[in-house]
Amino acid sequence: MLKIGDKIQIQNAVVLAPMEEVTDLPFRKICKENGADIVYTEFIPSEAIIRNAAKSLRKMEIADEERPVSIQIYGNQTEVMVKAAKLAEALNPDFLDINYGCPAKKIAGRGAGSGLLCYPDLMETITREIVNALSIPVTAKTRIGWDSDSISIIETTKRLEQQGIKALTIHGRTKAQMFEGTADWDWIGKAKASAGIPIIGNGDITTPEFALEVFNRSGVDGVMIGRGSYGNPWIFSRTKHLLNTGILLPEPEIEEKVEVMLRHLRYSMACKGQHGLVSFRKHYPNYLKGFENAAKLRSQLVLINTYEQIAETVMNFLGIKCVA
Ligand SMILES: Cc1cc2nc3c(=O)[nH]c(=O)nc-3n(C[C@H](O)[C@H](O)[C@H](O)COP(=O)(O)O)c2cc1C
Repeated sequence: MLKIGDKIQIQNAVVLAPMEEVTDLPFRKICKENGADIVYTEFIPSEAIIRNAAKSLRKMEIADEERPVSIQIYGNQTEVMVKAAKLAEALNPDFLDINYGCPAKKIAGRGAGSGLLCYPDLMETITREIVNALSIPVTAKTRIGWDSDSISIIETTKRLEQQGIKALTIHGRTKAQMFEGTADWDWIGKAKASAGIPIIGNGDITTPEFALEVFNRSGVDGVMIGRGSYGNPWIFSRTKHLLNTGILLPEPEIEEKVEVMLRHLRYSMACKGQHGLVSFRKHYPNYLKGFENAAKLRSQLVLINTYEQIAETVMNFLGIKCVA
């Protein structure tokens, strides 16, 4: 059972991962509607939040229909992180998540994200001060260690738990792995066995069957899905169904897939106007993967600038009469 604070209690939790430039409000809404139990904003730099930077404020916009939703922040200066956490709290997310996992050079190299795995005392201080400053639950997301010679997840789990976080998400890779190799679910399982707080396991889930396998293998309280949700938001409902009933539902029919894609596009345009149509183009390859002549259809879609024409082109191309 994934319990975060007093309000969130979810059996067989399947949650959407925070992903920079991906998990904007339209993406989160479409995943929510397709079964994601919890969604997160992408990570937001604490310095930018306290500077009131417009881009960061936009990233923190959340909607009631996506709840429970968490705002994720990162940084490495305690005071700045606490101020940013309070500003984020004022926007009323259900909980705040701290990123101790990002491996990117520009972030980890400066001692933020997974860089804090090298400074566990500072990580503790930041965590404690944020927990003490907020009234909403605080959680964190991290990796199993810096590299394969310094797997520290058991100690990290203990340290963060002692500072009062309410749950920990563990991506089963080291910082050094970046996104290479495979996630180590055995280490996630060992951390879960050692923890007194709920653990959400993360890494490489692209099918409901694999989610079931790692749930059973590691004993986690919830699983988090990132890249496996690209153009595939129904992975959440299919995974939940398998976990709850033991029955694997088939993939949706082509009509339903197209309906979801077009709805996602409408959300994107409602949120960002015409830019929402242009920025949505990155999603076509994912939604259309496996469709006959998908490349040809994609090359037509990226030239179109109205929703109506896109919908018409997709339906004509795929021989679908009406989806909505
Ligand atoms: C494009 C992209 C952006 C990401 N941005 C974030 C982020 O903002 N915060 C975070 O905690 N993790 C971020 N991650 C890591 C994911 O949350 C997740 O831990 C990782 O992708 C492994 O899960 P998966 O195999 O299900 O994708 C990002 C990953 C990707 C691929």
